[in-house]
Amino acid sequence: MNMVIRKVETGIAGFDSMLRGGFPEGRMILVTGGPGTGKTIFCSQFLHHGATKQEEKTIYISLDETKSHFFEEMLAFGWNFRELEQDNRFTFVDASDVRRIPDQAKVGRIPVGGKELARARLIDNIFTTFDGTKSSSIERFIGDLGAQRVVLDSISGLLFRFPNAWEKRQAILDIMEALDGTGATCLITSEAISMGEERQVQPEEYLSHGAILLQTLGTGERAVRVLKMRGTEVDSAPRPYRIGGTGIEVHSDIDLTYKSR
Ligand SMILES: Nc1ncnc2c1ncn2[C@@H]1O[C@H](COP(=O)(O)OP(=O)(O)OP(=O)(O)O)[C@@H](O)[C@H]1O
Ligand SMILES: [Mg+2]
Repeated sequence: MNMVIRKVETGIAGFDSMLRGGFPEGRMILVTGGPGTGKTIFCSQFLHHGATKQEEKTIYISLDETKSHFFEEMLAFGWNFRELEQDNRFTFVDASDVRRIPDQAKVGRIPVGGKELARARLIDNIFTTFDGTKSSSIERFIGDLGAQRVVLDSISGLLFRFPNAWEKRQAILDIMEALDGTGATCLITSEAISMGEERQVQPEEYLSHGAILLQTLGTGERAVRVLKMRGTEVDSAPRPYRIGGTGIEVHSDIDLTYKSR
């Protein structure tokens, strides 16, 4: 099992050293955190780095934001995604419609295997209903583009449709299986849920290859932690990060262990 794992630089200052070089190539990494912790900025910085510094093809699948909002917000960090789109190094997939697909009760009217169909529909719809593209699946779409970096932001918008734990787990597995076959390094964001002081571990965290937590501590400081990263040694201490004019910056020499829990 001593395979050499290729690392993909994140481009997030101070963070690559926490990962001993970057994310393991081709794996699926969860980026979880509370509202406003910087999940979208984190993922965009990862894409921007790949597209500008490594000439990679990148895809951002959005369930929350429209393309024009996204372009505008990212310009604040000097990231011109519109230009990258024109250069065919960036593709924005507006999947916000998926949230409005008829709910399970409606789809479930189809008599045989109603629930199974509801789930299949949901995943299919992400990748067939945008941009008028004719791609029939996410694998095909990512493969056709030859994308090396993919972001799905956020999975929580999909999962609330599955209150049943088993179905939710199956939906996550469907998405991950679809992304896994592509060879692209994928970031999936999710909303962290806390119960009082304690963070509740979600199934998407168990099912992904790696997980990053962005949090705001009681002191108001922002802290980033690598919760897990299969197959590679990492720095798992909480480290402070800042969101500034050039994006996210991690201070990997400062340890916030005693302040977080
Ligand atoms: N231009 C900027 N300069 C510095 N900080 C910024 C700038 N723009 C946004 N921020 C900070 O980044 C945070 C939002 O980041 P982002 O949208 O990535 O968070 P998020 O975790 O994706 O939020 P949500 O849960 O709403 O999707 C804001 O709370 C704000 O503090
Ligand atoms: Mg966001």
